Amino acid sequence: MEPVIPDLRRTPKPEAYARLAELQALLLDGSDDPIAGMATTSTLLHHAFGHLWTGFYRVVEPGRLLRVGPYQGTLGCLDIAFGRGVCGTAAAEARTVVVPDVHAFPGHIACDGRSQSEIVVPVFTGDGSLLAVLDIDSAEPAMFDDADATGLERLVAWFRVVPHLPRST
Ligand code: SME
Repeated sequence: MEPVIPDLRRTPKPEAYARLAELQALLLDGSDDPIAGMATTSTLLHHAFGHLWTGFYRVVEPGRLLRVGPYQGTLGCLDIAFGRGVCGTAAAEARTVVVPDVHAFPGHIACDGRSQSEIVVPVFTGDGSLLAVLDIDSAEPAMFDDADATGLERLVAWFRVVPHLPRST
């Protein structure tokens, strides 16, 4: 039987992310499939923390376009251009972006009006290519901080197992 996802909302963040990294490694043992990794990682995070939206936008045109991938939560928009919104900014600049107040972020894309704060973390394959971004939205203001950035960057390090992906462009 698969392990039950723990409720980590009241667990100190470093400990919570360490537990999720253990579960992720257990559940994805032997896999190098990026979609399986995205589905499993978004489900773990979403249910452990009770976020509003947790999921991935995949790079479908390098340097140009992100498209929604596996996620949990309410409906997300389908396509986001590099440079647009929080996701497009994180992708274009290949860095983690923490947004304590989405209403103060120029160009924020509101997929769910309840969203108050957000974090977006770039996801790289083993050869250093940008594969996707991990986007998490919260209904609470200022939900995310450096501990989340560190913990999430550790979780997306799993995607370094993904082999080089041929590009159609
Ligand atoms: N808020 C994001 C868009 C994606 S959704 O919130 C799921 C952004 O500004 O990039």
